[in-house]
Amino acid sequence: MKAGHLFTTILAIASTTLAAPAVTRQQTRALFSTNTHGRRQIPAECDLAGLDDVVLPVANPALPSPGEDQWLAAVIIGRGVQNYTCAGNDSSAAPVATGAIATLYYASCIAVQDPDLLAALPGEAFKLPLPADPLDDLVCGAQPIERAGFHFFNAAKTPTFDFRESGDEDLGLGLVTVGARSPAPNAASDVPWLFLTRAAGSEGPIQSIYRLNTVGGVAPATCAGQPKDISVEYAAQYWAFSSDP
Ligand SMILES: *[C@@H]1O[C@H](CO)[C@@H](O)[C@H](O)[C@H]1NC(C)=O
Ligand SMILES: *[C@@H]1O[C@H](CO)[C@@H](O)[C@H](O)[C@H]1NC(C)=O
Repeated sequence: MKAGHLFTTILAIASTTLAAPAVTRQQTRALFSTNTHGRRQIPAECDLAGLDDVVLPVANPALPSPGEDQWLAAVIIGRGVQNYTCAGNDSSAAPVATGAIATLYYASCIAVQDPDLLAALPGEAFKLPLPADPLDDLVCGAQPIERAGFHFFNAAKTPTFDFRESGDEDLGLGLVTVGARSPAPNAASDVPWLFLTRAAGSEGPIQSIYRLNTVGGVAPATCAGQPKDISVEYAAQYWAFSSDP
């Protein structure tokens, strides 16, 4: 079920040294207009037409804008781990990234209602223990944040965002590759901000996904004293853009 409301996303500029804000026309979908999970009612004020006023955090240096034919479909919080390996024998070597696994939660409603809370959510989610049951909603403060799906690396090691298990057939299955990266403000502890673009094997309308406002996830500098497999907890915002108006 789609809202069909046009809106404008203003790409906020994090640094005065960057060019003037790029303004693109986007369109939202009312992800919350049907309660596909049957677990709780979504209040009417969460109509994503309100994403009119939502500001996409922009990395410095800026990541590319989504294409003009792309529409903001969902704002999501991810909470999980970034994996690395020290399979080699060299304690001075840096751990090598092997993948990630995270649970995804819908934050579009929060993006509409409370942008400050949205900005704080990765930090708040990071403080919570990893979900004992990945099927649970994220309980962060008073309001449970509905599970949206899962992020993982598939058998071919391609980063994957799977919204099908949570019943969101509109978003489907997004396979992505890294289109651009930009260091997090606190790059020593927080994984880079990313612009991820659609890869072969995707099923559904997802064209690009931004990973923004990251917290945690950075590997130890070297393999000294590390086990073979390392998992480093992280949280992030993911902004999913779709070809579906
Ligand atoms: C590990 O390093 C030691 C010393 O450099 C070497 O003798 C050994 O063969 C290495 N083992 C592996 C599995 O690479
Ligand atoms: C990451 O490590 C966790 C254990 O911490 C494991 O359950 C998961 O399968 C790993 N995922 C990937 C993609 O490496």
